[in-house]
Amino acid sequence: MELYIDTANLDEIKQAADLGVLDGVTTNPSLIAKEKYDYTKRLEEICAIVKGPVSAEVIATDYAGMMKEGRERAKIAPQIVVKLPSTVDGLKACKAFSDEGVRTNLTLVFQPLQAMMVAKAGAYLVSPFIGRLDDVAEDGMVLIQQIRTIYDNYGYKTKLLAASVRHLKHMTDCALAGADVATVPFSVIKQMMNHPLTDSGLKKFVEDYKKAFGG
Ligand code: G3P
Repeated sequence: MELYIDTANLDEIKQAADLGVLDGVTTNPSLIAKEKYDYTKRLEEICAIVKGPVSAEVIATDYAGMMKEGRERAKIAPQIVVKLPSTVDGLKACKAFSDEGVRTNLTLVFQPLQAMMVAKAGAYLVSPFIGRLDDVAEDGMVLIQQIRTIYDNYGYKTKLLAASVRHLKHMTDCALAGADVATVPFSVIKQMMNHPLTDSGLKKFVEDYKKAFGG
């Protein structure tokens, strides 16, 4: 399973990249707004750190605007993936970019047919938002399972990227459901190697050894 970090914060990206197992980055307009920093410059800085796919979202919501902004974003670095909303205009832009050989990430997916349509249009990544479905008393994991089944039924090559991942249970469930990628906030990445029994077990190993041999 590929692991992306979901942030535009450079310090978090550096720390995650230092772990040696980071495959890519996703950003969105809200994450960029939090940084209060120029989007293009920040994308350049991110691409200097992470060589894997870096999703850069358009702000425009109409087809022509998405094509213009997407082309500008794609010029920033070869690893840029143009992130588009899963609307009718986004679908058309997805098809146009995929015909031009530009990779896309279709975001804000909340039902399985959006995922099927964008796969038909040649999306490189599809981003179902599991946490936000849970927030409105739906089950985000069901959407991941449905998309996995549809993509496997028809052999769609679009990578299933679980987004809006909020906690470790989401991560485990996504891995079990066969999500190709998960994009995860740094706060969750930091917890992924944690277990209290690992800490207490390690403490005891060291104490036992020192009792027997000193040091
Ligand atoms: O980047 C898109 C997605 O991961 C957002 O997550 O937590 O704002 O629902 P969240």
